[in-house]
Amino acid sequence: MPRFSRRSFLHLSAAAATASAFQFMTEPMLAAAARRKPHSADAVLIDSNENPLGPSQPAREAMAAILPRGGRYADELTDELVKTFAQMEGLDPDYVRVTVGSTPPLSLSVLAYTSPSRSYVTADPGFELGMNMAGHSGARVVKVPLTKTYAHDVKAILAAGSDAGLFYICNPNNPTGTMTPRADIEYLVANKPKDSIVVIDEAYIHFTEAESAIDLVKAGKDVIVLRTFSKVYGLAGIRCGLLIARPDISQKVMERGGFNFMPVTAMVAATASLKDATLVPERRRINASIRQQTMQWLDHNGFSYIPSESNCFMVDTKRPGQEVRDAMAKENVMIGRVWPIMPTWVRITVGTHDEMEKFQAAWLKVMRA
Ligand SMILES: Cc1ncc(COP(=O)(O)O)c(C=O)c1O
Repeated sequence: MPRFSRRSFLHLSAAAATASAFQFMTEPMLAAAARRKPHSADAVLIDSNENPLGPSQPAREAMAAILPRGGRYADELTDELVKTFAQMEGLDPDYVRVTVGSTPPLSLSVLAYTSPSRSYVTADPGFELGMNMAGHSGARVVKVPLTKTYAHDVKAILAAGSDAGLFYICNPNNPTGTMTPRADIEYLVANKPKDSIVVIDEAYIHFTEAESAIDLVKAGKDVIVLRTFSKVYGLAGIRCGLLIARPDISQKVMERGGFNFMPVTAMVAATASLKDATLVPERRRINASIRQQTMQWLDHNGFSYIPSESNCFMVDTKRPGQEVRDAMAKENVMIGRVWPIMPTWVRITVGTHDEMEKFQAAWLKVMRA
């Protein structure tokens, strides 16, 4: 019998009552579904918003050191991660749940808060995972175009979502990499219908200097903040995410099937990443510098793009974007997918200097062919 901490045991017993299995569509699955051909080992992968730097050195060392304990459930490592994050953010640890990336808590939030009579409201273009899950709950999907500055249009969102169960805000947004002002998020939270929830997905927040919405959770609002270790921390393949919400809200979400023991490697890697004070500022600087250089290059060569604050950006192909993806794939450069509302744009992930140089060479060849 594994040792259970009090917190984990309570989560387990509640979850066991209603646990069920659902199909999640993750970012790489979405990218792979859109990717036409299998890629070679030396392909440039700038299609899934991964971090080419991978785990930090402290995270690598922590994972190597924990391997001998891989035969144990070692649930106290999850508690240590919760404690570390809660202390850093000034949160009650009961407001933090650890998950296998942020794919499960986002999917389960949609199942918990939407239904045939409570719609799912999202930006367009926006991250598609929640829309796909709304198909499982039978909810109407309401897609609201971004504003001219590519922010979430909160007034239009509220007008379109009078029956909303869940409002999904991705800040910065995937795929555009653009921010929604804090005041707009506060307006949405203050004016949303009763019993609905606002999910604020902060998968990419560390690439910006923007303020997090965690204080809205602390203030007791109907808000879920999602974080992932897949982006700035470079742990996409290790899998760790966080759901931050009032305990009554996280309970409602996680009892849809969210409880599981966490991989020991992920727990120590995430904790070590949080404790490394240099990691976020250093990687934010690297990402911003390569992104700005790429944008200057696009300017210099006359290509239009949406200015981004994140690790991805959209470029105008002025022809069906899928054709450009296919042509780039032939050049061994895998670029991101196309959103139906912007059929002549593609999403590009910021890679390393070397990867972006290969991107530039392939892009010129394809676009000037
Ligand atoms: C906006 C957004 N949210 C959530 C996720 C889920 O990531 P993960 O499950 O790796 O934490 C992604 C993945 O790319 C994403 O782009």
